[in-house]
Order: sequence, then structure tokens, then C-alpha cells
Amino acid sequence: MINLSARKLTSLNGKWNTIIDPNGVGDFHKFWEDRKPEKKTDFVEYSFENGDVLNVPSDFNTQMTELTYYEGIVWYKKTFKYDLKTNKRLFLHFGAVNYLTDVYFNGKLLGTHEGGFTPFQFEITNLISNSENSIVVKVNNKKVKEGIPSEGYDWFNYGGITRDVNLIETPQSFIEDYSIQLKKNSNNEVLGWVKIDGTTISQKIKLSIPELKLNVKVKTNDSGYAPIQFKAKFNLWSPGNPKLYRIEIQSGLDTISDEIGFRNIETNGTKIVLNGKPVFLKAINIHEEMPTRVAKAYSEKDAEVLLNWAKELGCNMVRLAHYPHNEYMVKLAEKKGLMIWEELPVYQHIEFSNEKVQQKMDLMLKEMIKRDKNRSAIIIWSLSNETYHFTKSRDEALIKLVKQCKILDSTRLTTTVISTQGYTNNTFDLSDPLYNYFDIISVNEYIGWYTPWQGLPKDTKWKFVNDTKPVIISEFGGEAFYGSTKQPKDEASGWSEEYQEQIYKDQIEMFDTNPNLAGVCPWILCDFRSQSRLHPIYQRGWNRKGLLSDKGEKKKAWYVMKEFYKSKN
Ligand code: GCU
Repeated sequence: MINLSARKLTSLNGKWNTIIDPNGVGDFHKFWEDRKPEKKTDFVEYSFENGDVLNVPSDFNTQMTELTYYEGIVWYKKTFKYDLKTNKRLFLHFGAVNYLTDVYFNGKLLGTHEGGFTPFQFEITNLISNSENSIVVKVNNKKVKEGIPSEGYDWFNYGGITRDVNLIETPQSFIEDYSIQLKKNSNNEVLGWVKIDGTTISQKIKLSIPELKLNVKVKTNDSGYAPIQFKAKFNLWSPGNPKLYRIEIQSGLDTISDEIGFRNIETNGTKIVLNGKPVFLKAINIHEEMPTRVAKAYSEKDAEVLLNWAKELGCNMVRLAHYPHNEYMVKLAEKKGLMIWEELPVYQHIEFSNEKVQQKMDLMLKEMIKRDKNRSAIIIWSLSNETYHFTKSRDEALIKLVKQCKILDSTRLTTTVISTQGYTNNTFDLSDPLYNYFDIISVNEYIGWYTPWQGLPKDTKWKFVNDTKPVIISEFGGEAFYGSTKQPKDEASGWSEEYQEQIYKDQIEMFDTNPNLAGVCPWILCDFRSQSRLHPIYQRGWNRKGLLSDKGEKKKAWYVMKEFYKSKN
């Protein structure tokens, strides 16, 4: 199911009863049965009542001191009453739960989901009772070797029911999915489809765009699918003109509306071209975290704060690192005229040779594209970050994945981020053969921080495996502790703002040496939490590469970057 905001929802957000289960005894006790003592000799060694209560949505780590660094199992329980009329259907939908989830309904296992950043749902139409209903969710945020991401990553492993939970009521047959976007390389032709669930009888579908006085009628086949193709003179979406059209789709029993933008994104040699015009991507990396609240970001208000900072910096794109963010971020970025780079958490050490891992990558790709394929602001799907060419079967796994990505969505650009670029004699060597399979060559480089310059930034040289593709520097920068006045300012170990500021000045000078550069993306908007960052004075569990401190204070490098983006207008 997509586009929830247009459906009949009952929110299950709020207080949930919980049981913290560090030893994983909940399965043995069958917590989902929620047993109560009956006979005098009965006793039950658990209860959801009179225990800990946690807010949903939100990570659990920041709600209780005992959970600050917790990586393990928490059981959640919510009860509700629902009067489901006949010929209506009911679904239980989770915006995301990190990381491994078992969902029980009225004592029965509905199913499980793996992955912390994409939505999933279960139909409960035939399980709903007309008295009280009970949902029990087992969440385990323990890192797993065969996970995506795997065991090592440089962000805080917030666990829990981290996004909205809703009941969705639909008619017996309803519009389950649709794709309404411009055909590749076209500015006026939509090549889309609509999918109906719940009937095998052909249905009449009407798609209308009132503002264009456009009505298109099609019929579904017996599997509920109807291709849609039409032309119109669109006012194209762009950062300077984030135009969205209200569209309405009607089927026999269901009507749904959406706000959709129409734009074209392609490459032309080393240029990225939006609606026929080359565009330089002035981006910023963002983690899904509210530093000012020191917690996982999940709400529209959080998205508003993070994206306003990006706009203030002068960005025209945000890289939602390193995983799909909540839907508020995507929809609000689109409304604010920010292009989006969305990414799978295929991060660094992944067990590519493991068949199960490849299936998980495939499922996460499908879930990400299913949710966001109608968001015209998304221009890039990134399928990995800093995986290593020496990892067994990494190339074939990612080549297979990008082919699947193009089948699911032929309209957007693809990339995969490499950090194993060679940098010797002041020369970057972007020769990873994987680049040949993606539209954009993206590279993370930290020259001036992790690696000292080997010559003057203006004398930097570049070697490309493929000289005909656009290059994005998808991460660069260095750390600074806001307000650090440690002397001397020209030593990295002081974490001074001036040292970070100089990195940015040198990087900007270096940009002009890359003839294929189509965009840059500093790492990162705000300082963010990472359990790998342990300097007792300057880090204390925070990665300090933000242009903003954890309180949203602007470091000196912020102004360097803002000036550069202004100069690129
Ligand atoms: C890497 C990685 C980031 C990480 C950053 C850093 O390139 O992509 O996730 O936080 O560098 O070292 O700060």
C-alpha cells in the first residue's frame, strides 16, 4: 500500500506497553499470548501491564536511560477496538521498525520483517474481533553479520518502532499501487500503471488531473493491472518551480488522490540534465536524526527543521544517508524544491556472497521504490555506500541489483558510492569497474582530513574508469568541535573550526580540477551520534563532521559552503 495520507487511517501512535527482554525469553514464554494467572496455583513471569511504557513512533534508546546503548529485544503491545463494516478490509501498517520484527495479532503471528528503514504491512480483515484487539510486536535491533547494514556502521543504531503505525481501511477492492511519472527522456508523456487489489473482474479506472482538465480512462486486466499512457503540457517540477499536480485515480470502489510532480532527469555525457537543462547538484548529506533532541528523526516537524537548514545552506539536493528516510522527509523535500538522492543501507562490510543477503537487498530495493516511485524529487537511487571491490561477489551482486533497479524504475539515475578510489601523487584514480554499470560515478573522499593533501588542491589530477559519466563527490569534509579554541588552529587534533574551514576552502579549490564534476555533497549537515567516535573531549559518541553542531550552531565551514553554493547559482 502506498500514499497512506490519502487513505482512511486510524493512527496507533502513542503510548505502547513494553517488555525489555535482554535474554530473549519472550519466545519461550510466548509473550504474544499475554497470559494471566487463572488458578490459585498459577503465576506468570511477565506482563505488559504495569511495566515500561514507550512512545511510538520513536526510537527506544532515548526514552529510558537503561536503553541508551541497548541492542536487543523489546516487546511492544497495543490494544484497540475497531468496528469493521462488511465489505471493508483492514491493514496494519508500519512506517519502519529497526531492525528485525515479528508482529502478532490477537495471539497469532502475522509475519516478520527484516530491515529498519522501509514500510511493511499485514492484512487483518479476517482476524479483527469486535471486542478488544491486541497487537504484540517483537523488535530486535541487534546488529547481524548477514544484515543490511551489517555489523559495522558509523551512525547510532536507534532501535524500536521508529515511524508511524496505522490501521488502513479500504473497500473490498482498492487501488493498491500505481506509478504516474513521465516516461524516460520525455517532457510531456506519462507512461504509468495502476494496480487494483481484491478483484479479478476487469475494472474501469479513471485518472484525472483537474488543473489540466485531463481525464484518462483505462481498464484493468484480470490480475488488476492497467497500463496508463497519456500526453499533457506539464509545468515541469524543478527546485526553482516545485510544481505538484493534484491527481485523482478512481476505480470501481476506491478513489485516491496524490500530489505528483512531472520532470525529466537524465545524463548527457558528463552532465546531469533536469528538464533538458544541465544542473549542478548542490547537495548536503543528512542522517535521520534530530541532534537537538538527540534522537531518531521521524516527524514532519523534524523534516521541516532539517530541510530548512538544507535550504538555508543553498542546496538543491539532499542525500538521505545511508538508508530510506521517513516519508515526511521525502514529501517535504519535494514541496520545498529539493531534489533527493535516496539510498539503500548496503554499507561497507556486506556479506554479498550470502544468497539470503542478496534476497534482502532485492526486497529493500523493492520496498524503497514501491514507496517513493511517484516522488518526482527523487532523481538518484544509490544502491550502496563504500563497499569494497575486494569483497567476494560484491560486483556481481550490485550489478544484478542495478539491473533490477532499472526494471523497477527506468526513469531515475543510479549510482553506487565508492571510497576505495586511489589517491596518489595528488591524483584521484576512480577506476573501480563497478562504475561502468551505473549512471553516475560517486566518490567519497576526505582529503584534508583522513588523508593529507599530496600537493596543492588546484593541482589535483583525476583518472576515470569511464570519462563519459558525471562525477559526484558524495562525501567530503572533516571534524570540528563547535567553539573549539584549541591552539594551534592548523592542527587536526584540536578539532578547531578553523581547521575544518580550511578543509572546505581547499576542497572547493580542488573542485575546478575535475572536468566531469556534476555535483558535490559535504559530509554532513549536522553532527550526529556514532558509537565509534570516542574522543573524550571532542566526540564522546558524536561524529563532529557537521557543518552544524548538535545544537544547530553554524560552524565556520558552514559559511564557506554557503558562499560556494551561492556562487554556483
Ligand atoms: C564514510 C561514510 C560515513 C561516515 C564518514 C565518516 O565515508 O560514508 O557513513 O560517517 O565517512 O568517516 O565520518
